[in-house]
Order: sequence, then C-alpha cells, then structure tokens
Amino acid sequence: MSVLSGKKIVLGISGGIAAYKTASLVRLLIKAGAEVQVIMTPASHQFVTSFTLSTLSKKPVYTDFFNSNQATSTWNNHVEIALWADLILIAPATANTISKMVTGACDNLLQAIYLSAKCPVYFAPAMDLDMYIHPSTQNNLKVLESYKNLMIPAEKGELASGLFGEGRMAEPENIVAFLTKSLSKDKSLNGKKILITAGPTYEAIDPVRFIGNHSSGKMGFDIALAAAQEGAKVVLVTGPTQQHINHPLVETISVLSAQEMYDVCHQHFDGVDVFIGAAAVADYRPKNKATQKIKKSADDFVIELEKNPDILASLGAIKKQQFLIGFALETENEIEHAQQKIRKKNLDLIVLNSLNDQGAGFGVPTNKVTFIDKAFHIMPMELKSKEAVAVDIVNKIKEHYA
Ligand code: C5P
Repeated sequence: MSVLSGKKIVLGISGGIAAYKTASLVRLLIKAGAEVQVIMTPASHQFVTSFTLSTLSKKPVYTDFFNSNQATSTWNNHVEIALWADLILIAPATANTISKMVTGACDNLLQAIYLSAKCPVYFAPAMDLDMYIHPSTQNNLKVLESYKNLMIPAEKGELASGLFGEGRMAEPENIVAFLTKSLSKDKSLNGKKILITAGPTYEAIDPVRFIGNHSSGKMGFDIALAAAQEGAKVVLVTGPTQQHINHPLVETISVLSAQEMYDVCHQHFDGVDVFIGAAAVADYRPKNKATQKIKKSADDFVIELEKNPDILASLGAIKKQQFLIGFALETENEIEHAQQKIRKKNLDLIVLNSLNDQGAGFGVPTNKVTFIDKAFHIMPMELKSKEAVAVDIVNKIKEHYA
C-alpha cells in the first residue's frame, strides 16, 4: 500500500504552462489512495480547467475566498482547508508564487492556505531557465527551504520557450515518487504495531440498562490517528462512542464491556510493540446480569457489584518487549498516585490528567497532561488540544524507539 493512501493533500496550482500536467498528477495521487483538494490561483485557469481537475479529484476546486456565484453566499475557509491537509503540494510553483511564499504576500486563496498551514509544504518550481537561475529566484528557493518547505527540484529538458535547460516542473510520476520517498523516510513508526483502548465500557444490569461513564473516546481515537499517520499499524479496541476513524492502518474493534475489552486486548497483545490504555474502563460490573428487564417494585433497589479485571495491569504482568502506556485521572496527590500506578501496573509511561487543571479531562476538547516515565521523571506539558496531546504521546513512543 502506498504511503500516500489516506493522505489529505491540498494541491495548489499556480499559473504556468506546466499546470496542464496537474491533471495527470491528480490522477496519480488519487490512484495512490490520497484525497486531493485542488486550489487554483486565478492565473492557472489559463492553462488547465477547473472542470477537469474537479472531475479527477472528485471535489470542487477552489480559487476565491468567496463563492459569489452561489445563491447562498459561502466562503472557502482557508484556515480550515490548511488544517485539514496532511500535506500541501504547490505544483507548478511559478516564480511569482515562490516569491509570494517568501514575502508572505496574501492576495489569493492559495497564499492564505499556505500561510495558515501547519503541515509539511512541498513545492515543485516551474519556469523558464533564465528565470530559474536568476539570483532572485535562487535566493527565494533557499529562503523557502530555510522555512522547512520541501523543494521537489525542477528537471532539465525542453522548455515551453523552446530553450533547453533547467526549470521544467518535475514530471507527475517523479513528484509522486518524491512524496512517497519523503513520507516513508519520515515515518518513524513504520512497521510498529500498536494496540489502543478507547472510550467507556458499558456494564449490563439487564438487557436494557447498564453502568457506564462519560468518556467520549476522543483521546484514544486521536492517538490512533496520530500513530497511524506515523506509519504504525493500529488495533483500536473501543467501547461505545460517537467517534469515527477512517485510516487504512487502523483496525477498529468495538466492544461493550470491560470483560470483552480485556478478551480482545489479550488476543492481540502478543504481537504488538506498544499498548496504550486510553479507555475509561468501568472498575466494577453488576455481579448478576438479569436476563429479563428488571421491573420496578420495591422503593430501594440494590445492585451488587464485582470488580472488573484491570486490563492494563494484566498486560503489565505478562509484558515482554511491549512498551506500556497508561492514563491516570487524579483529583489529589496526583504525582504520588500516578507513580504508584506505574509500579503496580508495570508501566513504562503514564499520562497524568489532573481534574484540578482547567481544560483537562472528560468531555472537553483540550487536555493538560504530565508525563511520568518508569524512572519517575516528571514532564509537565502545556494545555493543548487533544490532537496535540496525541502527537506528544506518539512522540514519546518515537523517542523510545529512536
Ligand atoms: O487504576 P486506574 O483506573 O486509575 O488506571 C487507569 C489506567 O488503567 C487507564 O490507562 C485505564 O485505561 C486502565 N484500566 C484498565 N482496566 C481497568 C481499569 C483501568 O485497563 N479495569
């Protein structure tokens, strides 16, 4: 499977003759399994039609901030598009677009997306040979690379002017090969298998009632996605949740109860490199599950509970090479309790949430965590989005295997 599979790519097309080749480029990216959002600069419409590109990419093509031709006035949110992308590819990148990327000029939608992007940006220069070797252009290329943009070098050959030399946009096949190589190199979790639990568990009282909790599952799903984006193969064992994930490297297994989650985790644990317990597993379950719906009768009703197995601790007891990460949600003596948990459950790393920190915990999009490793190094982190915390957790795994 291509590393481009499942990747969300913004393809920015600027106005040079090489724009006609972007039809093949879109086709190749789609064939590799990528999702492609085409953004055209106004000038590029002279060289290729948006109709061709929207047909091939199966998405509308955007050029302007506003869709004024529609009855309902809508706008193309450059920030949303930039944050949606796993990578931005600007091809062809003309001398004009390159110079605007250098200065931060923002006179079209593509530039606004470029300036809003947090993902890697690749650009494939395309221009006539004298424009290409001009010191202004050469200097601009160096500046763009110093901004950590990745240049897909122009190729040598016949140019639209009839001259022969360097400046042709890399052929679409070579652009795809460049991206593939670059992304494979970056993926430091390639070949690693990660088992993750997420969400709440539901413990049945009778066929219609259960004991559960408010876990949304978001943290576990975000970690699964972040790990898959680094090339890891993920098995995500999740309790009931509204979360969705769509990545070819993630296999989702849905369970209801802690016992089911325990069984599935033990089936998969042997072959994995990393286990992350992000689920809010119910500590207790009703001792007896009624086979029929319980009728209301007496004023008082007592449910006898018994302890659920501790999935994380049970895996800690049998772990070999596996790197084990647990979560701890504490309200008092946080560090001390988390350290006890590391020992008791034989963990390599614990992610501590304190309910005393604003913005941390259940049902909020942010989290403030402290990492504690098995040598009891304490690493407090800033308040961040759960997506960013997920990336921090994946970075800890990468550090372990570095
Ligand atoms: O002991 P405590 O419930 O605070 O530990 C939390 C950590 O243990 C979390 O990583 C959670 O996913 C895991 N856990 C588990 N099985 C349980 C209870 C907790 O895997 N029955």
